[in-house]
Amino acid sequence: MILPVYVYGQPVLRKVAENITKDYKGLEQLISDMKETMLRAEGIGLAAPQVGFPIRLFVIDADPLKEDFPELEGFRKVFINAQIVEEFGDDVVEQEGCLSVPGIREDVKRPDGIRIKYLDENFVEHDEEYEGFGARIIQHEYDHIDGHLFVDHLSAIKKRLIKGRLSNISKGNVNVGYRIKVPK
Ligand code: NI
Repeated sequence: MILPVYVYGQPVLRKVAENITKDYKGLEQLISDMKETMLRAEGIGLAAPQVGFPIRLFVIDADPLKEDFPELEGFRKVFINAQIVEEFGDDVVEQEGCLSVPGIREDVKRPDGIRIKYLDENFVEHDEEYEGFGARIIQHEYDHIDGHLFVDHLSAIKKRLIKGRLSNISKGNVNVGYRIKVPK
């Protein structure tokens, strides 16, 4: 089932999300719905708060980026209760966008590499390192489960420049090709 995407201004996007246990009700269905929602919206990542669930879960399917980033071929993963335990490497600037901030793309500076501990959809533990754009996608989704959005990383000047557009998004005054849920 395709879920509406909660957009800028929704309080759930600002919560530090909670860890979950294996018996979290409806988890398998939620993961499946999130993958479907992400695919339809042409996103490469989606975090549970973006569909209204304040839990530490995100899904990534970066395979569509394989032409520009060959190392991302087949990069499809589910991250549960993730903790980034280390960031390393030089800061790198790349453009980012977000299904919860439709129509806005901006340069964001992030460290090139991360080490992350998480559980996959079978609750098997992983401890892995990522570098480059794969790391960036994870960092972006990880921000969501900590209540952050990519626009938080922008300079004060940039933030001021997009303020009006963010306000429009929060009122639903935005053209998007997928279902969104705006603040009441
Ligand atoms: Ni996002």
